[in-house]
Amino acid sequence: MRPDLDVLAGHHDGARAGRCPTQAPLPDLLFALPDNLIVPRPSPSPRKRPRMTTSSIDLFCDATLADPYPRYAELRAQGSAIHLTEHDAWALPRYADVRAALTDPRVVSSLDDIALAPEADRDTPAGTVLACDGPDHARLRRVLSRQRARPATDALTADVHRRADMLVRELVERETFDAARDLAQTLVADVVLDLMGLPATTRDSLIGNAAATFGPANGRYAAARPAAAAMFAFLNDVVTPDVVRPGSWLATTYTAADASGITREEVVPLMSTYITAGMDTTIHGISTAIHLLAAHPGQFASLRNRRVTADRVFHEALRFDAPIQAFEGRVTRDVTVDDTRIPSGERVLLLYGSAGRDERRWGESADRFDAHRPDSDRHLALGAGPDLCAGNTLAVLQARAVLTALARRCTRIRPTGTAERAVNNVLRGWERLPLDVTPDGRRTA
Ligand code: HEM
Repeated sequence: MRPDLDVLAGHHDGARAGRCPTQAPLPDLLFALPDNLIVPRPSPSPRKRPRMTTSSIDLFCDATLADPYPRYAELRAQGSAIHLTEHDAWALPRYADVRAALTDPRVVSSLDDIALAPEADRDTPAGTVLACDGPDHARLRRVLSRQRARPATDALTADVHRRADMLVRELVERETFDAARDLAQTLVADVVLDLMGLPATTRDSLIGNAAATFGPANGRYAAARPAAAAMFAFLNDVVTPDVVRPGSWLATTYTAADASGITREEVVPLMSTYITAGMDTTIHGISTAIHLLAAHPGQFASLRNRRVTADRVFHEALRFDAPIQAFEGRVTRDVTVDDTRIPSGERVLLLYGSAGRDERRWGESADRFDAHRPDSDRHLALGAGPDLCAGNTLAVLQARAVLTALARRCTRIRPTGTAERAVNNVLRGWERLPLDVTPDGRRTA
């Protein structure tokens, strides 16, 4: 075990003399380096004491959740690791540090510790792939590895596009609809529940609970707790091997338990991870992309004219407004981020939302939605390293299907009425997104 590590990946904001001579001067150097960016560091000289930067920003108050980006900019300007006094946790707001922490699991652990509310961590049952590390994490991820792999997702492509196109066709005939509920939520729930092997009637028991209990123990957490408990009760009591469709993801999970790949107790937590991690995130990602296209008609035209792909639009939307804004873990050893020492055992918040707007990584246009951005898929909104989103190809497939169908069937989309944000401690997206569309008269079939 190396006693003194520097989590720093390459601080693009300039080298401090004698600190990081090989990494600092080149803005793009981060991407010339291998994934494992954690490099051994000599102990800091006794003359150079670690700095501790603090902030009293409450990342989870209503005002910040309504528009977190100015607060993130303040944190990024303050430094690489800032102690948030309000949450007794360290924020990593810059792209390079979030990426470095994600790609070296030895530094940040999610073992039983993924929410800022200790109550929520206590509620998290063993077997949640999000809240474990090392061999257990690999064992749980393996259960559905075949189902998640690209050949399996590719096999779903035609069906997901057909579903999206049928739904969009029906909605576009109305000319006004709610793109969050009628479109994103309907499609994602249908696709994910079908894959899971659950009937569509289970939808209301499972939607809207995702990640609701992450974040601190505030009123939002308290309000969300009963719904999360109800979801676990539903999965425990109602969902059985007889209820799920043979060959589905949940059937595979039960089979893994029968084959001793996982324990019977791990079945419900594992399936709950896929449901909570897979539905609201994707719904928010898709509704965010649609909102941004509606607000930028020129970029919608680019999508229609195929000057930009639906994948590119979606990735840029994830960069610009990450559906999961932050995720929490603990540092497993003393680490030095830039010149700040974070002692072992402290909580850290990886600010995905802030990383997507880091001007050190994305340049002066970081705060601008630009579907033509060539490298938007390097965002961290889907995680990275061993915790890379296990449903990333499925998420992209669903978004591609929806955005392609919209571009095919509408000549114009624009916001109408009042859009409502979905307010959640860590998720960001739209609860309601009324849209007015102009059908492309040439598309009747
Ligand atoms: C736009 C949509 C999505 C976003 C933004 C997203 C984001 C993420 C992120 C950031 C993580 C890593 C969390 C961490 O730091 O530990 C994650 C993990 C995960 N995601 Fe997604 N996700 C999306 C869609 C999906 C879908 C469709 C599924 C599956 C149906 C899914 C299943 C999972 C699972 C099981 C994990 C845990 C992986 C692990 O810890 O090994 N996600 N997701």
